[in-house]
Amino acid sequence: MNWGMKNRLSRIIKLRSGRCVMLAVDHGYFQGPTTGLSNLGETVEPLLPYADALMITRGAVRNWIKPDAQIPIILRVSGGQSVLKELSNEIITTNIEDAIRINASAITCSVYIGGEYERETIGNLSKLVDEGEKYGIPVLAVTAVGKEMERDARYLGLASRICVEIGAHMVKTYYTRDFRKVVEACGNVPVVIAGGKKLPEKEALEMTTNAVSDGATGVDMGRNIFQSDNPVGMIQAVRAIVHEGKSVDEAYEIYEQG
Ligand code: R5P
Repeated sequence: MNWGMKNRLSRIIKLRSGRCVMLAVDHGYFQGPTTGLSNLGETVEPLLPYADALMITRGAVRNWIKPDAQIPIILRVSGGQSVLKELSNEIITTNIEDAIRINASAITCSVYIGGEYERETIGNLSKLVDEGEKYGIPVLAVTAVGKEMERDARYLGLASRICVEIGAHMVKTYYTRDFRKVVEACGNVPVVIAGGKKLPEKEALEMTTNAVSDGATGVDMGRNIFQSDNPVGMIQAVRAIVHEGKSVDEAYEIYEQG
């Protein structure tokens, strides 16, 4: 791995704990103004001090994030579909030069294994890895799940391993039973979990604890943070589990007090 790639990765995955808390706010690229992100800037600003990186599109970053923000950007560079259509029909929407202009610490796209456009989305990842390797920018592959896909370890392991084989430098997937098998399938490539749909806070914290104890490097969490009734408390609680190994009960207290 070249110096630039290592340097960018180290901005996201913290050396001290070897873990990371990514805040995902890229939902609008196919969901429009998702609950909690209509005024993205207002939602995100108080959360930035507690996030290690922000997953976001170029349009959102330019509209709602101040250029002097010190947060590493994981730039969502795929899109082209909406919730109204076939989800796997993605293209690359942002070229590498624009990612460099934004000073992205990583770039990301979704891969729809089992989806109608599986091959094309693997092709998107492959293209990003080629460009990322050329310019020293790591690629986060998101194992997106089509409407009929079962989110079990067998399927997520298949999807995650394919992303690793294509050359992804980090993989984002969902937590599931036997999650260790998914992590194992990824070898040395760091795996982070998405939060998925909003859960009661305690359940989201339990999921975070289980994921890191099963080998996840951390989270790339969105709705379970910004749709919480206490988003700042929630991200602090997630952070306490990921970086400090706090228990669910300790983290829940942080959520309530934060
Ligand atoms: C989905 O493809 C987007 O990348 C979201 O950022 C992702 O689902 C993570 O957010 P959440 O924790 O809300 O699932």
